[in-house]
Amino acid sequence: MKILVTGVAGQLGHDVVEELEKRGIEAVGVDIGEMDITDRDGVEACLRRTAPDGVIHCAAYTAVDAAEENEELCRRINGEGPRNIARVCKAMDIKMIQISTDYVFDGRGERPWEPGDPCCPQSVYGQTKYEGELAVQETLDKYFIVRTAWVFGLNGKNFVKTMLHLAKTHHTIRVVNDQFGSPTYTRDLARLLADMVVTDKYGIYHATNEGDCSWYEFACAIFREAGVSVNVVPVTTAEYGAKASRPANSRMSKEKLTEMGFERLPSWQDALHRYVQQLKEIAGDPEDSLG
Ligand SMILES: NC(=O)c1ccc[n+]([C@@H]2O[C@H](COP(=O)([O-])OP(=O)(O)OC[C@H]3O[C@@H](n4cnc5c(N)ncnc54)[C@H](OP(=O)(O)O)[C@@H]3O)[C@@H](O)[C@H]2O)c1
Repeated sequence: MKILVTGVAGQLGHDVVEELEKRGIEAVGVDIGEMDITDRDGVEACLRRTAPDGVIHCAAYTAVDAAEENEELCRRINGEGPRNIARVCKAMDIKMIQISTDYVFDGRGERPWEPGDPCCPQSVYGQTKYEGELAVQETLDKYFIVRTAWVFGLNGKNFVKTMLHLAKTHHTIRVVNDQFGSPTYTRDLARLLADMVVTDKYGIYHATNEGDCSWYEFACAIFREAGVSVNVVPVTTAEYGAKASRPANSRMSKEKLTEMGFERLPSWQDALHRYVQQLKEIAGDPEDSLG
């Protein structure tokens, strides 16, 4: 089996390629240099040349606040990109895994979102990722849409690295305490995607590490795990004042994974522990591991 993985220079794509190779599945990792997903003909040429049995599409425009001022580019990458890939997957009769996000929901209430719940994105990033989902659903039958959240991996920028970096220069760090979700370690998600891609259990899934917390609670856990002493101050979303609107409730139900016979991801605390260990192993000091 051969799988083409987009976004190999990013967090998730990198670990997906590693995981597939570990399992003896041929993985061809591409990023914008090899296959610009906004270039329809380029996507077709790359996929035809590679001739994979499936695509795991991890590339995206992921700068949530910057997206508010770069709507057109964000839409080309997150909305049209998946359509370009899905079109060729359809013609080649191969499967596609589209990675999506908790930001397709409006974040109201406290109940964990089910895969079939209505989407109502509140930001440019969320809206364009939703358009990507729709494009895949309209084009293909053999698709998985896997919504994840609060991603951290070795290969790229994320909240964990940002916190450790800030702690180097700040005695006090303000962190939002009224948005709740589940952190997700790319190594754990990569295992699930590798399990999934060899099946034909198509559909929409939610996949994050188990358990949930606020960003403030996550930050406190990061500093505890890394042995870093810093004053973390909880603030409201309004007090923090980010450009893009973010869902207050990003809790997502993973029951469908169980129903469909997939192994769920470990707890986010367990994932964070292993991630900080990974950073330590690589740099000797987690605070020095900023990618
Ligand atoms: N990060 C999160 O917290 C989070 C949360 C929920 C869902 N997700 C979803 O999870 C997936 C993986 O996220 P991630 O954090 O691994 O992303 P990432 O680290 O930002 O990596 C995305 C990769 O896509 C590349 N890319 C951008 N535009 C492209 C184009 N036109 N053609 C080809 N490649 C392009 C980027 O290149 P450049 O760096 O050069 O732009 C980057 O290497 C995405 O679908 C994202 O929407 C992420």
